[in-house]
Amino acid sequence: MGATSVKERAVVSGGAGFIGSHLCEALLARGLSVLALDNFITGSRDNLAHLRGNPDLEFRQADVNHGVFIGGDVRYVLHFASPASPPQYDSNPIHTLKVGTVGTMNMLGLARAKKATFLLASTSEVYGDPLIHPQPESYWGNVNPIGPRGCYDEAKRCAEAYAMAYHRTHQVDTRIIRIFNTHGPRMQVSDGRAVPNFMAQAIRGEPITVYGDGSQTRSLCYVSDLVRGVLAVLDRGDEFPVNLGNPEEVTMLELAETIVLLAGSKSEIVHKELPIDDPKQRRPDITHARKLLGWEPEVRLEDGLGRTLEYFRSVLR
Ligand SMILES: NC(=O)c1ccc[n+]([C@@H]2O[C@H](COP(=O)([O-])OP(=O)(O)OC[C@H]3O[C@@H](n4cnc5c(N)ncnc54)[C@H](O)[C@@H]3O)[C@@H](O)[C@H]2O)c1
Repeated sequence: MGATSVKERAVVSGGAGFIGSHLCEALLARGLSVLALDNFITGSRDNLAHLRGNPDLEFRQADVNHGVFIGGDVRYVLHFASPASPPQYDSNPIHTLKVGTVGTMNMLGLARAKKATFLLASTSEVYGDPLIHPQPESYWGNVNPIGPRGCYDEAKRCAEAYAMAYHRTHQVDTRIIRIFNTHGPRMQVSDGRAVPNFMAQAIRGEPITVYGDGSQTRSLCYVSDLVRGVLAVLDRGDEFPVNLGNPEEVTMLELAETIVLLAGSKSEIVHKELPIDDPKQRRPDITHARKLLGWEPEVRLEDGLGRTLEYFRSVLR
């Protein structure tokens, strides 16, 4: 894979990850050339395999915590590198803190040097275990800095502060998106979040493990909707955070039942102890995204789950 064209170029950190790989695809479809950076801590070369041979995609194995040196022009810098699921940041807490802080600073430095637009993939985790429901961007959050999720939540909060500081101090054109739970093909089976867990268990006919009584809610966005939102933020966003997610809320028990049904599985639902600091409710208020970007999710929950399930069937076969 080598970039030979003179098209505008986007640099995507975490480009070999789940969302990053879909984003690379969407940027290429827009007529940009893409340089994807990844150190494979949670991503995989396989996620970009279908784009191999595309002359507009260049891949570089690189850890963005160690500095990012890139020649030539860059129009966009999109920082998606970071472990993203609780088991993954639990096993790499220092790396997670670094990629949110040092990694973000390095990517902002690149955007500043190239006069590029910078976009940060932040998260609904900045709201912690929210005391306000649904969560608007104006809510400052309820985060435990020393709990097991602190390394991720606080790194992302710091990343947002970095983006604002570079915007205010160096006039870098910055964007911040707060991503709520997203699912789709190329999520890792071992990711540890509800959708891959339930799907793998349903496909294998194993018991579906729901934490607690399953009354805690999440809202699930399909990846194509999210990526459409990312592009809209690049085009029409400003420096302030925008929630991107699906406001349709579902309890974990309902999700487990829906997946069992879609998979035609005979798996039973069993209950396990609730993890520490597991948020009880998560649902984006997307009023701002609707007004600013004219964006909202289009893929219905069951349709999206069906597509993700198809992917998991193909990799678990
Ligand atoms: N998937 C979601 O529901 C969700 C929700 C909120 C926020 N996000 C954010 O979106 C981004 C992508 O998440 P994802 O679900 O695709 O996770 P992912 O683990 O599939 O992708 C992250 C990628 O970043 C790479 N990476 C990590 N540290 C790196 C480093 N120092 N240098 C280079 N590459 C590095 C990983 O190898 C991986 O390929 C993350 O920043 C995450 O915090 C995701």
